Amino acid sequence: MNKKEIIELLSLKDYTALIEKADETRKQYKGDGVHLRGLIEFSNICKRNCAYCGLQAQNKNIKRYRLNEDEIIALGKKGAELGYKTVVLQSGEDDYFNRERICKILKGLKEFDLAVTLSIGERLKDDYKAFKDFGADRYLLRIETTDENLYKKLHPNMDFKNRVKCLHILKELGYETGTGSLVGLLGQTVSSLADDILFYKELNADMVGIGPFIPHPDTPLRGELNKENFDYAIKMMAITRILMPDINIPATTAMETINPKGRILALQSGANVVMPNITTTEYRKHYEIYPNKICLNDSSDKCRNCIEGKIKSIGRYVSQNKGFRND
Ligand code: SAM
Ligand code: FES
Repeated sequence: MNKKEIIELLSLKDYTALIEKADETRKQYKGDGVHLRGLIEFSNICKRNCAYCGLQAQNKNIKRYRLNEDEIIALGKKGAELGYKTVVLQSGEDDYFNRERICKILKGLKEFDLAVTLSIGERLKDDYKAFKDFGADRYLLRIETTDENLYKKLHPNMDFKNRVKCLHILKELGYETGTGSLVGLLGQTVSSLADDILFYKELNADMVGIGPFIPHPDTPLRGELNKENFDYAIKMMAITRILMPDINIPATTAMETINPKGRILALQSGANVVMPNITTTEYRKHYEIYPNKICLNDSSDKCRNCIEGKIKSIGRYVSQNKGFRND
């Protein structure tokens, strides 16, 4: 598929055939198993000011929290007890969690035979190396957009080239590396979305997470939600599945935030992973990347059962392995 063909597919108004093809490809290469990854949102403290993100340092309207190392390990244990084979540790870019602290957490989590994914932003190569040595298996770092000018506008004091470099380092160090995009940013074009897909392919990403942009009222990008972002995100996912048939693709929480059936529709359009939240209920509402996030008042047990029910309702099942790309 070349760029022109990707643009044509992204521009389709009726994209039924596209998602059918993506679903067939998913079935052929990944089967009907859905991998669950338990998401731990362990700190909403962030030194960055990404223009779209509710956690940005300049937002004074959120209550900041940070779990300590033992609390994070305890949540991992709870996740393992709930049957999760993987946990994802996500936070803002919080320098409290230096190399030593993250390594301590990894060591603790590895006692429970969990695969561990980190999603804690840009770090030095030596940090990434130490995390790998202490057992981190995967790393998620979305490129967000490959349009360098747009990237610059949205990410003050950040450097697009460094983000790309981080992704290459992660690949080199042997992480299963995840990237992805925010879809529907003001100024983002269909041509740049096509470039995003070609970027995933060129990087040979092992995971690609695509989510619709949802405006947060306490950020510079506040405003009306554009419902079309959902359709573009689904089309992006479907095309990515067709181009990269064996990778892992999550049905993202943001999809379900703007469409009540969002994660199910995503699972039927190429996705094969879901990341239910296992963060303690009292903290969930403070990890407000965007408004109206789903499951804010639910417990981790409830989320586990709810998602399993949804997966079964479409004739799929919860996979029992760790869900590496080549499993
Ligand atoms: N700090 C880490 C990083 O930079 O990779 C991870 C945390 S960050 C909150 C996780 C993801 O949230 C980002 O990669 C971004 O795509 C997504 N996100 C942030 N603001 C959003 C918004 N308003 N709507 C949808 N997704 C958003
Ligand atoms: Fe840091 Fe969003 S600006 S996590």
